[in-house]
This record gives sequence, structure tokens and C-alpha cells, in this order.
Amino acid sequence: MEPSKSVYTLADLKNWDAVIRDVSPRPRVAVFGDPVEHSLSPQLHNPALQACGIDAQYIRLQIRPEEFDEAVRLLPKLGFYGTNCTIPHKFLALEAMDRVDDLARKLGAVNTVVCDDDGSLVGFNSDGPGFLRAVREEFMVDVSDLRVMIIGAGGGAGRAVAVQCAVENCERLVLVNRTTDKAEAVARELEPYFQDTRVLGPVKRLAVCPWETEALHEELNDIDLIVNATSVGMKRTDPDLLPHHLLQPHHFAFDMIYSPLETRFLKSAEDRGARTTNGLPMLLWQGVFSFEWWFNRDAPVDAMRKGLMDAIASR
Ligand code: ATR
Repeated sequence: MEPSKSVYTLADLKNWDAVIRDVSPRPRVAVFGDPVEHSLSPQLHNPALQACGIDAQYIRLQIRPEEFDEAVRLLPKLGFYGTNCTIPHKFLALEAMDRVDDLARKLGAVNTVVCDDDGSLVGFNSDGPGFLRAVREEFMVDVSDLRVMIIGAGGGAGRAVAVQCAVENCERLVLVNRTTDKAEAVARELEPYFQDTRVLGPVKRLAVCPWETEALHEELNDIDLIVNATSVGMKRTDPDLLPHHLLQPHHFAFDMIYSPLETRFLKSAEDRGARTTNGLPMLLWQGVFSFEWWFNRDAPVDAMRKGLMDAIASR
């Protein structure tokens, strides 16, 4: 048997039977990305497939944006259960589906495609549910009980998490973005979720905060959960996300970044006595939801967690 390649392409899909003739188990789930080599999803899903005795393997597919439609339409014909979509396909995928789940439509993106029995494509989004579950597992509290600040709320991931918090009717939502206009656009869209009379005293339930120390300081007194949805902290040379002194012991600090495992934001938060989590739990729970949509059964969470930890340890 041939080991499976680390990355396949559209050209491979077009010649699939020949390409995978000697590959076992047969690839039946995938992640579409561009770039995609860095994706940890195979290390998350392959142990799960094995643990459940499902005769399938999860592969990476390097698909350019202009190839997306053709590639995704081939999946049902080639016996795939579905695929994940990562950068830059999450928005394209929304348009390419035959049907889109309500939450995915609200979040404005699709990261999980399910091939239905009749060959149609159904789009879901596990980013929001993965975020909620990660908060609950790591901090033992529900987003609906929290006052949340999202930094990077104008980006793709930040916007999805902001919508999810609004859908959950979180106590308070404060949006921050380097380009403030983008946070304001998201806030306008989310206004209908914050019309009711869940009153918190003088502070507004939905607000946009400029990325300035003074303004952030004021808002952070009335915030429980701080989410970093920007890429600030991925590089060693990146500046602090927030000045150290703004972080307080009552804060929960959630960084969506998982490489490095501990960003300067998390280190600062921990030093200040706050509770913290990196992006790995969200990645795990996103994977769990995708698995459950494809296979219509409970995912083996422990096997997936171990797969992810092994992948991180061997990097
Ligand atoms: P993703 O889909 O991963 O969220 P994205 O849509 O490119 O990626 O969003 C990146 C987010 O990180 C945005 O909120 C971006 O801010 P802008 O909307 O102002 O571009 C934010 N971001 C990226 N680099 C940043 C930096 N150096 N400082 C502050 N914010 C940054």
C-alpha cells in the first residue's frame, strides 16, 4: 500500500481512481485550503476515524479559490462524506452550497461541507459552536452569562464569534478592531439582538470601542471574557495586544491563536491573575462538530484531543 500524499490537488481529484488506487483507507473527508500544508485537521480526524472503525481517511486538498466550485462538486461523485474549508474558502463555500444551515448563514461563512445522500452539498459552520464549547470547557461558564470583548471583530473569525455571542444573547458585547469602521459595520448588523431590556446599569450592551488604551481601560472594567481574534501574537516581534496593566484577575483571556501555544497576551493575562486559554480547545471542538455532522454519531473526543496534542508535540 502507498502512504497517502501529504497534499492532493484538483488535478488529483480529476484522476482520482488512479491516484488513490493503492491508498488505504480510501480518502473520504478532507480540508480545502490555500495554503493547506500547515493544517492540523488530519491529525485530529484520522485518530477519530480509526477509533470509530470507519474505513476512511482525512486528507489535505490544496485548492485555489478559482478551483473551489469544480473541486467541491466532485466530492459526492468520489464518495466523500464532506470537507472542511479553511483560508480562503469559508466565504466562497457559502455561495457554492445547495443548502446552508441557519447558523452558518448568520455567521456568514461555511467551514464544513456535508455531502448529502442525494449528492447535494450542505454547508455548516463549526467555528461558532466550537468557540462556545471551548469557553464552557475551559472556563466552566456559558457565553450567555458573560460580558464579552472581541478584539479583531472586523475580521472573518472575529465576526463569526461576535455573531455567535449575539445569538447566545451574551450579557454585553464590545467590539474592537484596528480598522474601527469594520467593527461598526458588525455592530450595526448585531443591533437587533440587543434590543431587549437586559439592563446592566449605565453601560451599553452593544458597543464599539476604539483601540486606544484609555477607552479600552474603561470598557474592560465591565468585561469578563476577552477574545483575541486577530493575528497579533503569532510572531515573536508582534507588539502587546493590550497593555499589561489593563488585564485584571476577574478576566477570562481567550486567544484564538494556538501557535505559539502561549502568546504574550496570554502570558500577560496569567501574570495578572486572569484565567486563560489558547486556540487549541476551539480547534478541537470545531473538529468534533464537523465529525458529528459528517458521520451522524458522537465523536471520540479523547482520541481527537490526543491526536491534536501528539501533533503539537511533534512540531
Ligand atoms: P481571519 O479570517 O483569520 O479572521 P482576517 O479576516 O484577515 O483573518 O482578519 C484579521 C483580523 O486581524 C482583522 O480584524 C484585522 O484588523 P483589520 O480589520 O483592521 O485589518 C486584524 N489584524 C491583523 N493584523 C493586525 C495588526 N497588526 N494589528 C491589529 N489588528 C490586526
